[in-house]
Amino acid sequence: MENKSVLELKQLTKKIRNKTIVDKVSFSVNAGEIFGFLGPNGAGKTTTIRMITGLIKISQGDVWIDGYSIHNDFIHAIRHVGGIIENPDLYKYLSGYQNLKQYARMVAGVTQQRIDEVIRIVGLTESIHEKVGNYSLGMRQRLGLAQAILHHPSLLILDEPTNGLDPEGIHELRDYLKQIAHQEGVAVLVSSHLLSEMQLMCDRVGVLRKGKMIAIEDISSLVNDRSTQQVKITIDPAQYEKVVQILEGEGFSVLSAHPSNELILDASKKEIPHLNKTLADKGILIYSIQGIEHTLEEQFLNMMEGLK
Ligand SMILES: Nc1ncnc2c1ncn2[C@@H]1O[C@H](COP(=O)(O)OP(=O)(O)O)[C@@H](O)[C@H]1O
Ligand SMILES: [Mg+2]
Repeated sequence: MENKSVLELKQLTKKIRNKTIVDKVSFSVNAGEIFGFLGPNGAGKTTTIRMITGLIKISQGDVWIDGYSIHNDFIHAIRHVGGIIENPDLYKYLSGYQNLKQYARMVAGVTQQRIDEVIRIVGLTESIHEKVGNYSLGMRQRLGLAQAILHHPSLLILDEPTNGLDPEGIHELRDYLKQIAHQEGVAVLVSSHLLSEMQLMCDRVGVLRKGKMIAIEDISSLVNDRSTQQVKITIDPAQYEKVVQILEGEGFSVLSAHPSNELILDASKKEIPHLNKTLADKGILIYSIQGIEHTLEEQFLNMMEGLK
């Protein structure tokens, strides 16, 4: 992956009347990277994206795209951007192909070869000559994506692109975004309030809360760097007290509060074989034993809780 920063935000701020909606947000997105812009509804994601794309005025700070300032050199800066801010504009009575041709007429330098290329990249070869009115939402999304990358943008911006997509559509979108980033070297900024899917889609994420960027992390360190892990054991409730005694004797802290058939304890996955053997050797009937993975969603919620 190249390390050239394509998008750079410095202290970007939006004030509407007396309210600060986006508060000194700084981050950058590199060529070939998918950057997830995460935050609950109302956090200020769309407002930030609107400033990046020049749809609303910047109150303070600035944005650079390929080195051009949005504030001082908007025309040059915006030339390098492709985006789907809301639903892509498509003509339903035309085929996907005719839509792309139509769009290509409005932007300079799009060759026939490039049109064929983007159709392949977004995987619409089979259905490109069908009417868009007959397309599924996922297919329309892909056509929108094809349109957005037609002019070889160095930055692609997608605001909540998974809204309204089914799991299969989300999966597809993820694959196409990865292709666009990794094959074409495009910097991708994708916003979402849905975290579990960002986990699979992005290389890095920035977490926005109440207009402030509270964390920027590599997705791998966010997912792998867990200080505590947990293990869930299903047993016969009649043996509950005995199991707790054994586990505490082994130095584990048991989190379940009252007798039941389920026990949760702080332990790492690596300790499962040991736990299993210790309990089995003492005559405990184990129905299941499994490590509990903390999803990005849970970590995100914990992070948010800590800030209240
Ligand atoms: N034009 C506006 N006037 C006043 N408040 C606004 C305006 N646009 C957005 N807001 C407020 O700014 C906050 C952030 O909104 P938005 O950027 O849409 O968040 P997100 O996209 O993260 O859901 C919200 O509280 C919203 O009500
Ligand atoms: Mg929004």
